[in-house]
Amino acid sequence: MVSLGISSDDDIDAMVRIDQVNDLIASWPKCDLPEELIRDIAVSQIALAGWCWPAKASWIAQAVLSIHASLCVEIGVYGGRSIAPMALAQRHLGIQGKVFAVDAWDNDIAVETPTTQENDKWWGTEDLTAVKDRFTSYLLREHLTDRIRIAEMASDDAARCFASPRFRNKVDLIHIDGSHSEEQAFKDVKAWAPLLRHGGLLVMDDIAWETLGPSIQLLNKIGDLVYEERSEPGSFAAFCIDQAKASAFCN
Ligand SMILES: C[S@@+](CC[C@H](N)C(=O)[O-])C[C@H]1O[C@@H](n2cnc3c(N)ncnc32)[C@H](O)[C@@H]1O
Repeated sequence: MVSLGISSDDDIDAMVRIDQVNDLIASWPKCDLPEELIRDIAVSQIALAGWCWPAKASWIAQAVLSIHASLCVEIGVYGGRSIAPMALAQRHLGIQGKVFAVDAWDNDIAVETPTTQENDKWWGTEDLTAVKDRFTSYLLREHLTDRIRIAEMASDDAARCFASPRFRNKVDLIHIDGSHSEEQAFKDVKAWAPLLRHGGLLVMDDIAWETLGPSIQLLNKIGDLVYEERSEPGSFAAFCIDQAKASAFCN
């Protein structure tokens, strides 16, 4: 499938041009993903704002394919660059999955617990509404509105909504990339890890940040590290969660 109806060299809209997509595909990191899925992810990388880079996007999509992740959650969506690969991989599998997009897109909530002065200044003034609008336009164009469900609220509030038998121990994959403050990141791991099914994957972004130390310590207690990347564009790690340990350490 060719995303966004791209079939010529024309600009298809202000979001994506075919030559940009082709250039990105030409430099795509080696991976086992099918060509059409790489193409869809490449389009999303160009269309959407964010920090997810091609190798990480490929890793996330491969994880969804490998564990048939039909129920996924992302905490901290921003422009959608890291959540799109989850939904696109689900669509490629042909499963009727759901990916919940948890983000408040609210400056005050983004800086509620402090990180660094520079980081908080950026998050306190970024036009998050415009970023979200671009994401929702992409969802409409890609016919992903049924698969990606937006929960526009603080992650603490969302965690309370999701703490129900419908989700507890049922989620296949969670990507945590919300606030990078020590306090909030730790709260996010503690609140969301128990939703994973036994053997589900928790992907933690920016593990190189000092503020994420306590979160990583907790993740090492409740799961096994299955992947870790510390590269130039960024860092992330994936943990396979032990449900019994998550219940014991996170409640
Ligand atoms: C680093 S960005 C996410 C980047 C995205 N995952 C990517 O790879 O492009 C962090 C996002 O978390 C959101 N956020 C920060 N604190 C939050 C909170 N307490 N509740 C909900 N969302 C929050 C911000 O609005 C922001 O969009």
